[in-house]
Amino acid sequence: MIVDTQLPTNELFPVTNHAQPVLRWAGSKRRITPILSAYAPPKYERYFEPFVGSGALFFCLRPPLAFIGDVNPEVTSTYQALKDAPSQVAQHLTEIPKTKDAYLLLRQLRPADLTTAQRAARLIFLMKSCFNGVYRTNASGQFNVPFGSTIYKLPTSEELQSVSDALKLTQVRTGDYKSWLDIAGVGDFIYLDPPYSCSSRYRGEYGYDAIFGDVQLEELLTCCKALQNRGAKVMLSYKNNKQVVNALKDWRILNLAVPRSVNANSMGRTPAAEILAMNY
Ligand SMILES: C[S@@+](CC[C@H](N)C(=O)[O-])C[C@H]1O[C@@H](n2cnc3c(N)ncnc32)[C@H](O)[C@@H]1O
Repeated sequence: MIVDTQLPTNELFPVTNHAQPVLRWAGSKRRITPILSAYAPPKYERYFEPFVGSGALFFCLRPPLAFIGDVNPEVTSTYQALKDAPSQVAQHLTEIPKTKDAYLLLRQLRPADLTTAQRAARLIFLMKSCFNGVYRTNASGQFNVPFGSTIYKLPTSEELQSVSDALKLTQVRTGDYKSWLDIAGVGDFIYLDPPYSCSSRYRGEYGYDAIFGDVQLEELLTCCKALQNRGAKVMLSYKNNKQVVNALKDWRILNLAVPRSVNANSMGRTPAAEILAMNY
């Protein structure tokens, strides 16, 4: 294992025109995008990010041709709405009163009863206002995170337009990460940032449909090897975990101390020990 704190310069793929992520998201890689982007391959044809969440790396790199996805349909429909109709999303966002009452009202609405632009504005507002930027639902899919202490700054219409531009040649899909990876191979770069594995159904970080346990982790590692055999370049973020390090021992592995944005129980806000594993 390599322990490395020095950033390489990535001159062939300069990060100059990045867009800001619009979703506040627990587990976002926003604070370490300089490291992630520096270790991204200098050249690739297509970019895949199937656990996209707030898409910190995607919006930093702004790859010209990309495939993004998430099991959470609110996330993916937000990106689809921003891709297709950023000004409508901006309009709905400005109409929302910046109050706790508005938060509680929006939280109760059923996304299926809204247009895609309203749905996107709702998610952006909820995530900017909820406790710790956590997306969590109850057993019937109802968003149930309490109001946080602040309503963070909402994106401007220019920022939403810039996100829309970044999504122009991007295909967005709802569902399990594997559904995108079947088509990945030579010339592709895949960034994988799954949830940390946990065995309790109730401690899933991203809602009931996004539980990622030991079985899913094993499947993910098998998938990493299959991608490698097909000639794809893969970068995986994960907590520092023996199972992962052993399975990928022929990969380049960096240790990272990642600042937490979410106060995970007794762990407080001490940095999380993560790894970045790359097969290139
Ligand atoms: C650690 S977060 C990704 C954070 C992202 N890198 C960012 O910068 O915001 C993991 C994401 O994976 C999604 N997810 C969980 N299980 C999944 C699955 N089986 N397939 C696809 N997405 C999944 C969650 O909804 C969550 O958005």
